[in-house]
Amino acid sequence: MSERDDHEVIVVEALARVAAVTTTEELRELGTELLGRRSPLARAKAGLSSLEAGDRRAAGMALNAARQRIEQALDARSQELVAAERASRIAAERLDLSEVVPNRRRGHLHLVTQARDRLEDTFVAMGYTVAEGPEAESDWYNFEALNFPAGHPAREMYDTFYLEWGSPESTLLRTHTSPVQIRVMERSEPPIYSVMPGRCYRLDTPDASHLPVFHQIEGLVVDRGITFGSLAGTLDAFTEAYFGPGFRSRLRPSYFPFTEPSAEFDITCVFCKGEGCRTCGRTGWLELGGCGMVHPNVFAAVGYDPEVWSGFAFGFGIDRLVMMRHGIDDIRELITNDVRFLEQF
Ligand code: DAH
Repeated sequence: MSERDDHEVIVVEALARVAAVTTTEELRELGTELLGRRSPLARAKAGLSSLEAGDRRAAGMALNAARQRIEQALDARSQELVAAERASRIAAERLDLSEVVPNRRRGHLHLVTQARDRLEDTFVAMGYTVAEGPEAESDWYNFEALNFPAGHPAREMYDTFYLEWGSPESTLLRTHTSPVQIRVMERSEPPIYSVMPGRCYRLDTPDASHLPVFHQIEGLVVDRGITFGSLAGTLDAFTEAYFGPGFRSRLRPSYFPFTEPSAEFDITCVFCKGEGCRTCGRTGWLELGGCGMVHPNVFAAVGYDPEVWSGFAFGFGIDRLVMMRHGIDDIRELITNDVRFLEQF
């Protein structure tokens, strides 16, 4: 066999082994075996010295050519294996971020929370901001600053939970969201267009229409040139936006110490759409809340000049609104946590 044939055998064997290797680690070892000091090629190279000078050159070139073919095969295989190993590492590290759908049914926000969110959205769409205040209040915010001086008979409208904090009857659980009006005016300058939802407390025995803990949403607008017409128009726009086309509001004279004039506002009966039914006492209207023009004494309490600014306020019960909307006849359903009730909304 000629030397060239020898080389061919070495190369063919080497290429077959290179092709059979499956990891970069093995390939590195094989590379040493095929090209290193103890490789057949190295041995053949050592044999060159025994050749005649003329033959040595040709044999040397043939050996180099054989070595290059093996090196190229090792390189090419190395690239394939590196790519394959990288692909399998990525596959192994892959995180499945797709949503797992649990096989139990999901819960949802409570009906009152849903109503509160929708009320906020409706007013935000009308350009209002949303503000909050504390549930434990001082007598000053809950009554005094709202023009209920100590001993004022209108305080009797509220059965108040007092807290044992400070001097007797100085700290209480707010009986309405109106104290947040004072806090908003204290911390900002007019113009103000704000709604203030939240939890309120009154010392009531639970029955079908009363709970000692309930929810209200308060509204306050203070700007130049605000009139009773602005109040009536706003409540009407709100009623239509919240309840839908065909729902209107109306105002009836009333009394609150912090507004003058004051009114109750009614909306088209949600059950008979104004036709007159048992729920609305055949009037076609349901009472929703109270409202009026901000009293000058309230502006005085927060240091606003009533000659420059005028405003209106309104407030109504979120739980009552929810009951009207869904025809719920017992407010206690809202806190009993019976899933058969809750699941319906
Ligand atoms: N705070 C009153 C209540 O709970 C409701 C109310 C009436 C709020 C008139 C107002 C208003 O802002 O102007 O009985």
